[in-house]
Amino acid sequence: MRKKITIPDILKMKQTGQRITVLTAYDFPFARLVDDGGVDVILVGDSAGVVFAGHDTTLPVTMDEMLYHVRAVKRAGPQALLVADMPFMSYQTGIEDACRNCGRMIKEGGAEAVKVEGGSSMAQVIRAVSAIDIPVMAHIGLTPQSVHRMGGYKVQGRNDQAERIMEDALAVEQAGAFAVVLEGIPAALAARISAELTIPTIGIGAGPSCDGQVLVIHDILGLCEKYSPKFVKRFADLAPLISAAVTQYVDEVRTGRFPTEEHSFS
Ligand code: KIV
Repeated sequence: MRKKITIPDILKMKQTGQRITVLTAYDFPFARLVDDGGVDVILVGDSAGVVFAGHDTTLPVTMDEMLYHVRAVKRAGPQALLVADMPFMSYQTGIEDACRNCGRMIKEGGAEAVKVEGGSSMAQVIRAVSAIDIPVMAHIGLTPQSVHRMGGYKVQGRNDQAERIMEDALAVEQAGAFAVVLEGIPAALAARISAELTIPTIGIGAGPSCDGQVLVIHDILGLCEKYSPKFVKRFADLAPLISAAVTQYVDEVRTGRFPTEEHSFS
């Protein structure tokens, strides 16, 4: 069995130039598969609200729903670092709420770190949560919980917006984040940020120069056909395989070919 991955391991990977691999998981079987595949970090993302629960955005996801997913993933006993995403309104309403809710992810969910969206505006929250020894992964650029402000899921940090994203990156590092997700920003800007920061950058739609990459498991397996952003690479196409298996099951039950003696008790 491989060694358990810890926060110091992730920090060391930046120093030694080893790329950090991150994938999402929301339940026990996928957590097992993702962990066995050798990822460094499992993120229980609030993307669960979209790819698992079928919402249009991540905004409806609640603390209780996230705790349910985090516990299921924890039961898989991952060797990967387990990071829990904080849902909308669980940390934006003040430092006390943020500390309490982030603490619940660790205490009740078994997560080893949390992720919050936002840059300079979330620096105080990141500082307070980090100060009570809950490691925080920040998330800047295209932050899906800000979908209404952004007017959709649009690339951020182009042209004169670039300096604001750079300021966000520096602010979350100074506030004590152990890593930062860079989502939906130009590759050149992500390269600049990755060179400037001492903490690892984890890219999603941010080009190849980040210290690591993250994608949503349903996207890489071809399980989410509704919407596929440009930055997703499909590493497998499972939806047709699953459909074919279900069709065969329906056919065999209807025609009496299943179950046979082999699947019956005497
Ligand atoms: O919710 C999520 O899965 C995420 C990642 C895609 C970064 O925030």
